[in-house]
Amino acid sequence: MAIAQVLALSSSTSSFVRTDRPKVRRAAPSRVAAAAAGATVGEPARRLVAAFDPAIPLASAVTPPSEWYTDPEFLRLELDRVFLRGWQAVGHIGQVKNPNDFFSGRDGHMDWMVPSSKLHEYQESRTSTRMILVYYQSRREYIIECNWKVFCDNYLDGGYHVPYAHGALASGLQLQSYETLTYERVSVQRCESAPAEQEDIDRLGTKAIYAFVYPNFMINRYGPWMDTNLAVPLDATRCKVVFDYFLDESLLDDQDFIDQSLKDSEQVQIEDIALCEGVQKGLESPAYGVGRYAPSVEMAMHHFHRLLHTNLCG
Ligand SMILES: [Fe+2]
Repeated sequence: MAIAQVLALSSSTSSFVRTDRPKVRRAAPSRVAAAAAGATVGEPARRLVAAFDPAIPLASAVTPPSEWYTDPEFLRLELDRVFLRGWQAVGHIGQVKNPNDFFSGRDGHMDWMVPSSKLHEYQESRTSTRMILVYYQSRREYIIECNWKVFCDNYLDGGYHVPYAHGALASGLQLQSYETLTYERVSVQRCESAPAEQEDIDRLGTKAIYAFVYPNFMINRYGPWMDTNLAVPLDATRCKVVFDYFLDESLLDDQDFIDQSLKDSEQVQIEDIALCEGVQKGLESPAYGVGRYAPSVEMAMHHFHRLLHTNLCG
């Protein structure tokens, strides 16, 4: 076990890279600009964007067409409009604890790198950091045979799939208390935990909170435990989901609690992978085109699709 850094619940907690293309410098094409230029998209992808109407109220709306989840050209449009612009979560400060540390990655066709110096410089410019949980270094990555949005949609269904897919987790929650709140670029789903006699109450605490930060970053808080998920597109029908784990400092030496929490998290993830890969197969079926939302629970998913539509039209 190694403690890398402390996480705070603000935008200064995780590392974000801004991937806007330079507006003024024109001397030599940057790698980002070159990547964006290579991402020129045609009329078919734009027609796919227009096939979803964000103005239709949730109760009567239809979902985006299946090509949003299968078409390589549509993914190129997303990489250009969503992942090469604005702020993206890529990691957290615990990954660069030493002065010369750095971490790197790849979003679609763009490589990026975050050096320790840049991140700490950025963090020092923030004054509202609130230290709450300790990073527990046990990063896990999962390659899932589904479009990155399938993972996000599954996360944003308002607990719809929980009683069917996550029996153990559902037994620790009071699903009738599930509620969804939407904000500008964030949605929050929360649910009260079951009474204290449940055996996993220590991990779940009094409530579960699931925060989604558009476009692809998720924060899951259960009492003294927290994990984050980052859904990274690999290609149109495959993504990587990166898990990081955090816990209350008082539990750092409680190896049984940590082992059980990691095991519970892994179990939920395995169940979600099966769901996501099954959904992807359905999306690729020629028999499927669009679907309907479950309007009483899928508010956050609809919110996500509307944000994406706005972003893709920009
Ligand atoms: Fe799930």
